[in-house]
Amino acid sequence: MIIVGSANALSGLDAGWEVLAAGGSALDAVEAAVRVVEDDPDDHTVGFDGYPNVLGEVELDASIVDGSTRRTGAVAALQGYRHPVSLARLVMERLPHVLLAGAGAGRFAEECGFAREELLTEQTRAVWRAGLEAASSGGSLPEQLSQLVRMSSDPEHVAGTVNVLACDGSGRLASAASTSGWAWKYPGRVGDSPIAGAGNWADDRYGAAACTGFGELAIRCSTARSVVEAMRSGLPPEPACERALREVVDLPDVPFEGAIMHVVALDRAGRHAGVSTRAGTQYCYRTARDERAQLARRAVLERPDPRRG
Ligand code: GLY
Repeated sequence: MIIVGSANALSGLDAGWEVLAAGGSALDAVEAAVRVVEDDPDDHTVGFDGYPNVLGEVELDASIVDGSTRRTGAVAALQGYRHPVSLARLVMERLPHVLLAGAGAGRFAEECGFAREELLTEQTRAVWRAGLEAASSGGSLPEQLSQLVRMSSDPEHVAGTVNVLACDGSGRLASAASTSGWAWKYPGRVGDSPIAGAGNWADDRYGAAACTGFGELAIRCSTARSVVEAMRSGLPPEPACERALREVVDLPDVPFEGAIMHVVALDRAGRHAGVSTRAGTQYCYRTARDERAQLARRAVLERPDPRRG
């Protein structure tokens, strides 16, 4: 048994581990871990008090994958409900669909009995207002939001997400991703976290992987699925992540500095890795040998040599 996550999953990983240790499923474990992070008001990249879109509305994306069946559920641009990961699971379990977006996702949350609430605190609303003022010289919204969104793409605020992967006592794998997405994004923008195969994938036969970073890149490169495919071809998790990230940094219109992407991977043998295009990032994990969740350094993808075509 093992549970693995992005560094910001640390606060939820022990809750996920308790599920596994009590004989629960990998699916229950990843959901339990992600819910703790979604509740955390200090994590402004996920769930309650996440950074809002350019209009000041919190829009959440999440998905969950059952590696035994490759069933998946997801929600995108969900407003007013703090646990998109649980709603994603209900999409998978109760609907003949995979992904619900916007008002439809909200309606389904209501039908499922989720409590509607304002997700933005006054403090974070003030951060949003300040960001808007800096980007729009005065704080009033221009008619063309697209211009403003381009100006306010501050890399410090755009790349956060929580990832959790788990393998339970029966060898079943599951994965989950949840995010408030790109801060000050265009309303309705959807990132990689709710897109199966882009930001999140699990397959009991090979392994599981999930991404944080610029979701647009993971969507273009099907990054999570690429990591799992690389493990399928026999690579251990770390080189599998490197192979998938190489596709991201090789995108011809994206400079290396802009290719911000971090992945975590877990194979069916319980081996795990975190790899990033940036130095100094971490991921976390817990096994039966650990008393609590542990942080580990992510490997760093080597910068491509410009002399090589
Ligand atoms: N990786 C999160 C996002 O781009 O929305």
